[in-house]
Amino acid sequence: MLAPMRLAYVVGTRPNFVKMAPVLAALRRRLPGAEHVVIHTGQHYDRELSEVFFEDLGLPGPDHRLGVGSGGHSEQVAKVLRGVGELLAATPHDLVIVGGDVNSTLGAALAAAQARVPLAHVESGLRSFDRSMPEELNRVLTDQLSDLLFVHSASAIDNLAREGIAPERVRFAGNTMIDTLVAMEPRIRAAQAAQRRGLEPGSYLLVTLHRPALVDGPALAQVMAQLGRLGLPVVFPVHPRTRRALGDAAPPGVTLLEPLGYVDFLSLQLDSAAVLTDSGGIQEETTFLGVPCFTLRDNTERPITGEEGTNTILGLDPERIADIPALLAARAGVRLDPPEGWDGRAAERVADELAADLEGRSLARA
Ligand code: UD1
Repeated sequence: MLAPMRLAYVVGTRPNFVKMAPVLAALRRRLPGAEHVVIHTGQHYDRELSEVFFEDLGLPGPDHRLGVGSGGHSEQVAKVLRGVGELLAATPHDLVIVGGDVNSTLGAALAAAQARVPLAHVESGLRSFDRSMPEELNRVLTDQLSDLLFVHSASAIDNLAREGIAPERVRFAGNTMIDTLVAMEPRIRAAQAAQRRGLEPGSYLLVTLHRPALVDGPALAQVMAQLGRLGLPVVFPVHPRTRRALGDAAPPGVTLLEPLGYVDFLSLQLDSAAVLTDSGGIQEETTFLGVPCFTLRDNTERPITGEEGTNTILGLDPERIADIPALLAARAGVRLDPPEGWDGRAAERVADELAADLEGRSLARA
């Protein structure tokens, strides 16, 4: 008799948990006889960036914790490569699944490729064309190493074709981050995170900034000065990296919060007048929710959020924050349908493809 199939899901940071939770749930339903192994690299380790998400999303606790912790790009990638590599060497696996573009994603992809374990990448093909971002290198290299690449927008298909990736390896699945949002929507709508903080729904700007290009230099102080002059309440849950640079200082009208769990953060997004961010995932969530989003970056790897969503790329220019009230007034009432495949069923499509692929392989083994 054949040993049960063994699938490893490698996660390490906040957005990984959100993207992977529905994929894990769908594959557990599709392949109940398989072993589903969750590996947490430990890239994010603070309770608010890690355990809170497992609790909010109902993710089963990890089977393995690598304890990689903080460090530079090469240090984190190397530690994940070694940790996942050791696990794959110790026990045979039929598939490794990674998501997104963080250092944990690339480390795990390298480990799978070196161990010759088939690799699936959820959220493939996104490109900012800016190789000064570690995430861009992570995306390009992970996609090169992956056997099955799941995309959520048409531009991703073009990007992969341009890099010589065979179209048979690419599957349009839709957006698994939106699956989580759809599944959690009743809890998000009931949470009333704004009211609980004395904020009137529709009245405030929600801010999240954590990218090195913004928070590790002089731009952050300029951003804070601009936020203080905006004339509308600003709520800013602060990532630890940003907190290190910012301390506790905020101008009047700007409220700094600790990082929030998934439900409370999405509730604040849902009820905001607009969001100012440098995050990729938040550009997608605001697109789905129909909330105006202003991205304080020079580029986006998610152009669909501008073409079919609510996202405006302001540029990496704090002065542009002053334009937000006028830009908001100009787009009042605009509501677009979510992009194709951002419908709450992306993980089911991923699971269908992967289960068929795995079952085909086990038939071949038999
Ligand atoms: C990482 C990802 C980024 C993603 C973000 C989501 C990379 C290159 N970056 O950025 O793409 O958008 O996660 O949140 O993979 N820290 C803590 N506690 C933690 C984790 C981090 O205090 O639990 C602090 C440490 O000082 C650390 C810094 O935050 O050095 C940066 O953490 P790191 O995981 O390197 O990158 P993020 O900025 O979180």
